[in-house]
Amino acid sequence: MRIIILSRNGELYSTRSLFNAARRRKHFVRVVDHMHCDLLIENERNAIFVHGQPLRGYDVIIPRIGNTVTSYGSAVIRQFESMGVSTILHAEALLRTRDKLSCMQILSQHGIPIPQTLLVNNYSQFHLLHHKIESFPKIIKLKSGTHGLGVLKADNAKSMESMMEAFYGLKQKVLLQEFIKESSGEDIRIFVVGGEVVASMKRSAQEGEFRSNLHRGGHAAIAEISEEERQVALEAVKILNLSVAGVDMLRSKRGPLVLEVNASPGLEGIETTTKVDIAKKIIQFAERLIKPSNI
Ligand SMILES: Nc1ncnc2c1ncn2[C@@H]1O[C@H](COP(=O)(O)OP(=O)(O)O)[C@@H](O)[C@H]1O
Ligand SMILES: [Mg+2]
Repeated sequence: MRIIILSRNGELYSTRSLFNAARRRKHFVRVVDHMHCDLLIENERNAIFVHGQPLRGYDVIIPRIGNTVTSYGSAVIRQFESMGVSTILHAEALLRTRDKLSCMQILSQHGIPIPQTLLVNNYSQFHLLHHKIESFPKIIKLKSGTHGLGVLKADNAKSMESMMEAFYGLKQKVLLQEFIKESSGEDIRIFVVGGEVVASMKRSAQEGEFRSNLHRGGHAAIAEISEEERQVALEAVKILNLSVAGVDMLRSKRGPLVLEVNASPGLEGIETTTKVDIAKKIIQFAERLIKPSNI
């Protein structure tokens, strides 16, 4: 099978891990920077060029699209899809998950438990509505942040108002969210590939920090998950039409709450923590997308 990994940097852990796994399974594999892809849109003759050369004859793409280039990255994925190339991540699914608001809306619409979340479009209305999220602390979140950047905790009304004023002043839309105290700086990442949970880890924030992101100094350990957590993760991934995803959850008094679903989840933390060869599982899933004659 002929595979393209869409990645800005072949040296990144996740890209290397996928590349090596594909090679070990005897596939032809190439890393292509999606930002170097030029798109010809012409009905039946859509094409993609890299440095003027057409990309042809590939069976499947494995997109690894960073948060800063979601829009163009999804255009490139959509172009491959239009050319009949299989993908482990659909353009529309990527776009939906990158916006925390639409992700929350879709999940909640389908009965997936999430933390209570408020978006006030005009700051003039904020004072009328912020109490819908009861009691402090409250979480303030940029709509499309990542790695814990853009997630803040307001301990009282005064700090909430000054943070909100700053964000609205900068024309940044933010979400106000209930703070799940009992999760106390911990979240669970459940890694799903092809409709199965393949690994899970618990991330704990460093001392004095409530965000458990590994990029914020959190540390990870293997997690045992409950049947309910497993079901919620699989359901969330299915609803969002993803095949490979990292589902982040908080353990709350009212059960697991989905915080976000990552459509391009990093492999380093989860592979080194759980010792599961996730890259291999992703390649095996890609093989299943392709007709047997192409493998
Ligand atoms: N509502 C919340 N209650 C408690 N902790 C939270 C809440 N929202 C976020 N956190 C903490 O902050 C971290 C980052 O939040 P998240 O929404 O995942 O943003 P990012 O996309 O930047 O990772 C989470 O992993 C969790 O530890
Ligand atoms: Mg997160």
